[in-house]
Amino acid sequence: MNINDSESIETNVLEAKQIHKSFILEQNQIDVLKDISLSVQSGEFVAIMGKSGSGKSTLLSLLAGLDQPTTGQVKLNGDDLTDMSEEQLALKRQSDIGFVFQSFHLIPTLTVRENIEFPLSIARQQNTKRVDELLNAVELTHRAMSFPHQLSGGEKQRTAIARALVAKPKILFADEPTGNLDEKNADQVMQLLLNLQQAFNTALVIVTHDPSLAKLADRTITIIDGQIQ
Ligand SMILES: Nc1ncnc2c1ncn2[C@@H]1O[C@H](COP(=O)(O)OP(=O)(O)O)[C@@H](O)[C@H]1O
Ligand SMILES: [Mg+2]
Repeated sequence: MNINDSESIETNVLEAKQIHKSFILEQNQIDVLKDISLSVQSGEFVAIMGKSGSGKSTLLSLLAGLDQPTTGQVKLNGDDLTDMSEEQLALKRQSDIGFVFQSFHLIPTLTVRENIEFPLSIARQQNTKRVDELLNAVELTHRAMSFPHQLSGGEKQRTAIARALVAKPKILFADEPTGNLDEKNADQVMQLLLNLQQAFNTALVIVTHDPSLAKLADRTITIIDGQIQ
């Protein structure tokens, strides 16, 4: 290993090398991602842009270990996500990776507090102070006992963001996190994501259609037809 290699291991939280992803649909192979290589540094904010259907969500789910590439490698903090058992991958997602979905994916039968606590509880951990800190950070302390159906879209997404950050992940992925929100809530959620990225020094990778948001990013990656441009 040369000096450059050891440097890249220290500063890159995420490294994807030559990712390909194909699906077989009615006996036809569809190549959705083609030869994608990218890296994200610790604490960096990267925006991913591209037309609908270009492969952004597929890419994000591979980078976050929610799905596996057909070929290629995804390394998180030096650990190869494509070479792990389901169990190891689940543990890695719990400890190092946060994910925010466009459609929130809150658990309807749990309160705001319980939703935020959920990643800790499945890891058999408890950290009331951390949950309080996140409730405060997303300005939902007063809604801690509410259920998702009692919340506005913006409040639901703020709950999902707090849940994604509760276990102090090294990297937070968000797939069009403001796509289901009106302009005012979208602005608030974006501001919040940026504030938390800075406060917790979490790397942030966001898929977005919003050019004003992409401008705030340290770097923008554009995907056209499954390839980085
Ligand atoms: N599980 C799947 N099976 C077959 N095709 C898929 C699957 N997931 C995604 N695709 C296809 O991959 C392409 C990219 O999808 P997606 O990553 O969701 O794009 P984007 O998020 O940029 O809109 C689309 O043509 C979509 O139909
Ligand atoms: Mg998508």
